[in-house]
Amino acid sequence: MTEISIFKCIDCGKEYNIHDIRYRCECGDLLEVIHDLDASIPKSDNWKTSLDEHIGKTAFHRYQSILFPALPKESIISLQEGDTPLYDVSYAFPYFKSLKLKHEGMNPTLSFKDRGMVAGVSWANDMGCKHVICASTGDTSAAMAAYAGASPNMKGIVLLPKGKISSEQLAQPIASGAMTIGIETDFDGCMKLVQELTEKHSIYLLNSMNSVRIEGQKAIGIETLHQLNWEIPDWFIIPIGNAGNISALGKGMRELYDLGIIDKLPRLAGVQTVGASPMYESYRNGFADLIPQKAKPTKASAIQIGDPVSFKKAVRELKHFNGVVEVVSETELMDWKAQIDSLGISICPNSAVAVAGAMKLRDNGMIKKDEDVIAILTAHGSKFSNTAVRYHSDNTNKFANKMSIINPTIYELEKNLEL
Ligand code: F0G
Repeated sequence: MTEISIFKCIDCGKEYNIHDIRYRCECGDLLEVIHDLDASIPKSDNWKTSLDEHIGKTAFHRYQSILFPALPKESIISLQEGDTPLYDVSYAFPYFKSLKLKHEGMNPTLSFKDRGMVAGVSWANDMGCKHVICASTGDTSAAMAAYAGASPNMKGIVLLPKGKISSEQLAQPIASGAMTIGIETDFDGCMKLVQELTEKHSIYLLNSMNSVRIEGQKAIGIETLHQLNWEIPDWFIIPIGNAGNISALGKGMRELYDLGIIDKLPRLAGVQTVGASPMYESYRNGFADLIPQKAKPTKASAIQIGDPVSFKKAVRELKHFNGVVEVVSETELMDWKAQIDSLGISICPNSAVAVAGAMKLRDNGMIKKDEDVIAILTAHGSKFSNTAVRYHSDNTNKFANKMSIINPTIYELEKNLEL
């Protein structure tokens, strides 16, 4: 290939120029970005040690030769995303050989979406796009609006399912100056509209069906392996909504493997909520074709999605990584959120879906006691502070830590503290 990166259809294999603005193949299926990695990483033997030279740079710069080599460095719009903590919580939950939490909520806009947006918005910047748009359950819009705001000449437009995202998430695109439109529908309805609009007008679509975003998100898995000194864990556990992130996780690790940079693959587990589980239903039926659902409300509102756009890519990765899919209830996810929060690691309900899934897979014997597990925490608890306050205000919840209200006397204070 002449270009270092191209678009390729995941079904019919038709190739397109990377500079084309297109999100789907003529046949209707999804595109993916394919890089000539032998050209961008000619010496894969010393790629790992060569990263030392870039240790002071942001994660996107450091891993760019495998993430998106086609992007000129001068076009990169970065908010210093990446280098997120990998917390070892094995001491608190000794049900595995080890349990580590990759906290993507510690990114600039408090979610993993910044990883994809640095690639997507930078590419839009390189192509001179003036308008970028996304449909969102809250986090994509927050990230896109922030990165568009950081670009010299770009306006963000966000379509949100009205009343279905947290007020903290809603504040983010508004404060970043994006045109923010609430629509009387759910996420899947917003997603349909955004696809229709971008077919008619030259507004650049930045949902994860834009495969450039997936390339940036590969950094989550790659950076985790780097933090583990390239020791491959047995499992990565990740919440699934629109199914872009699990697709990115798989693609990045497949590419590392194909280059000979790693010599073992982990297994993947995707987790959904009981009421929004199209991927789980497919898995249960031997990865049967997607049957779109009307996703039911859940505290994990960022993954209330019934018709995941990246379904086919996710299934491909799940099969390649001997993956499984699990579902968790509202009680399970909120109780696990409370337990992780209480360790000083503030997580959102969507992240708690991954943790609850890990515990459930351990309980039902899928994950063994001698296995190393990484759960991906996708966003920060601060985006869902009202959900946390409500949980802790209700003493019937297992891990509730209810606030006391007292009169301003030393007597009442001492009585309250049982002193
Ligand atoms: N966790 C969080 C916090 C999310 O915001 C999302 C998706 C996911 C998990 C699921 O990732 O869609 O790649 O499978 N949020 C999108 C949004 C849909 O609009 O912010 P996925």
